Amino acid sequence: MIGANTMRRDNPRLLVNSDARRAQRVADGRPEYPLKVTVTASGDLSADLKFWHHGGEKLVLTVDSAVEKVRATLGDLADVISVGPDLDWDLALDELGRRGVERLMVEGGGTIHTQLMAQNLADEVHLAIAPLLVGQPEAARFLGAADYPGGSTARMTVLDVRAVGDVVVVRYAPKERA
Ligand SMILES: NC(=O)c1ccc[n+]([C@@H]2O[C@H](COP(=O)([O-])OP(=O)(O)OC[C@H]3O[C@@H](n4cnc5c(N)ncnc54)[C@H](OP(=O)(O)O)[C@@H]3O)[C@@H](O)[C@H]2O)c1
Repeated sequence: MIGANTMRRDNPRLLVNSDARRAQRVADGRPEYPLKVTVTASGDLSADLKFWHHGGEKLVLTVDSAVEKVRATLGDLADVISVGPDLDWDLALDELGRRGVERLMVEGGGTIHTQLMAQNLADEVHLAIAPLLVGQPEAARFLGAADYPGGSTARMTVLDVRAVGDVVVVRYAPKERA
């Protein structure tokens, strides 16, 4: 899953790049690519975005006021459903569960990360730290301001740390407070 703003700004294809991982998915009886999901309230999603034209099934979770607009824009490119007048994350995740999603990877951006973390809905955080110093104050951030569970003194449990080239990936369990 990615937020609509990440789609508009980065225009990612959002694929499983590893041949071996795709082959393993098929060997396990799953589709070569996992379902790709985005969320939008405005419905401002161009049909030209790469997301719609690569990989497997696509799903747009939106709200009542935008559902017809997104369907008209995308046609057969994606399944489009409304989860109500506002996007309630519990209902949205229930809908994904009904569609067989057992593990959801949320790739950002910060707006959707902030909501899911503030509502205590993430089981794991995989934080990839690249050796780059970003000085622009307007640069995208992992999380924004919110009332996070437990407040700023609650420590998440570290599950593991590993290096991938020059990037370090830390896996946290945010619901398990140290
Ligand atoms: N470093 C990284 O690994 C990484 C990863 C991902 C993204 N990014 C960066 O993050 C930036 C984008 O992040 P962002 O925080 O601006 O946006 P975002 O989280 O990608 O998307 C936010 C948008 O998602 C929709 N949305 C979010 N919550 C919703 C809700 N409760 N109900 C309905 N729609 C909802 C809205 O779309 P509408 O406006 O259409 O209503 C909202 O504007 C980009 O610059 C990208 O490069 C970085």
